[in-house]
Amino acid sequence: MDRTLTMEFVRVTEAAALKCGRLVGRGDKNGADQLAVDGMRQAFEKVHIDGTVVIGEGEMDEAPMLYIGEQVGMGGEAVDIAVDPVEGTNLVAKGQNGAIAVLAIAPRGCLLHAPDMYMEKIAVGPRAAGRIDIDAPVKENLRRVAEAMERSVDDLTVVVLDRERHADIIRDCREAGARIRLITDGDVTPAIEVGIEGSGVHMMIGTGGAPEGVLAAAALKCLGGDMQGRLAPQSDEEVRRAKEMGVDDIHRVFTINDLVSGDDCIFSATAITQGNILRPVQYFGGGARTETIIMRYKTGTVRFVDTIHKFGNRALSIKL
Ligand code: FBP
Repeated sequence: MDRTLTMEFVRVTEAAALKCGRLVGRGDKNGADQLAVDGMRQAFEKVHIDGTVVIGEGEMDEAPMLYIGEQVGMGGEAVDIAVDPVEGTNLVAKGQNGAIAVLAIAPRGCLLHAPDMYMEKIAVGPRAAGRIDIDAPVKENLRRVAEAMERSVDDLTVVVLDRERHADIIRDCREAGARIRLITDGDVTPAIEVGIEGSGVHMMIGTGGAPEGVLAAAALKCLGGDMQGRLAPQSDEEVRRAKEMGVDDIHRVFTINDLVSGDDCIFSATAITQGNILRPVQYFGGGARTETIIMRYKTGTVRFVDTIHKFGNRALSIKL
């Protein structure tokens, strides 16, 4: 993919974050999502791609914009796009940490068309790449990750969504001596964090959304981390839907390269609320400031883009 596109995609996630950041803490998760979708959709109109949304806001009949199958862009390279204009809608509604506007782009056919259902996931950073096994017990995965990272299990921090369904995982982590960070929502942000040394988290495990799994895989692929996922349908209807979308073996373990295949992908995430590695959208008289992580797998470049956006003609004084 053309490398000049990377800056274009920064603009796309920035646009979503800038619009919906206005609703942080306002208790309106649907309103926040709508604003982010509008911002992202408008920004895509100026990008030189022939893009197909493969992971988006839902099927065409349930989402007016950024629906699965929608064509976006001004024309250009044929790419597949995964978007989540607000990853962590509850976090935005409550003004809690960890919400991002996020997208991943890859050449056509390279992103798994993940159905909107649950996926079991395990994710680690570069030093533990190749050591995880979603079929192995949690304690064994912890042992392997600790060994790869040359530390003991009690020096690991594991991120888990705080859900009843994760009671066994939480118990196993605690019994093994690992520390846990329980999160209320948003499992893409911690997947980025496990890929970055110094973020203080070393593994993410548990069941969350399958679409978010593809976004997390794109981030970790760019960062040199590792991830595995397996669909976790909750009904026969979901099994049927997965098959319709091309997943013949519902028990299949997807490796990071199955989730995002090929030799190029671009990942962009702009913070909406405060994160561990990104600052939130901040508004001030006449403008706003955003922080974005933009990465490209082919070159391994990771950029942190700190942007001042000027609204109207008012002069801005930029502060550090
Ligand atoms: P939304 O942004 O759509 O609200 O989803 C957030 C999220 O927390 C994901 O990050 C996660 O994968 C999934 O929902 C977990 O689902 P559930 O809330 O059903 O456990």
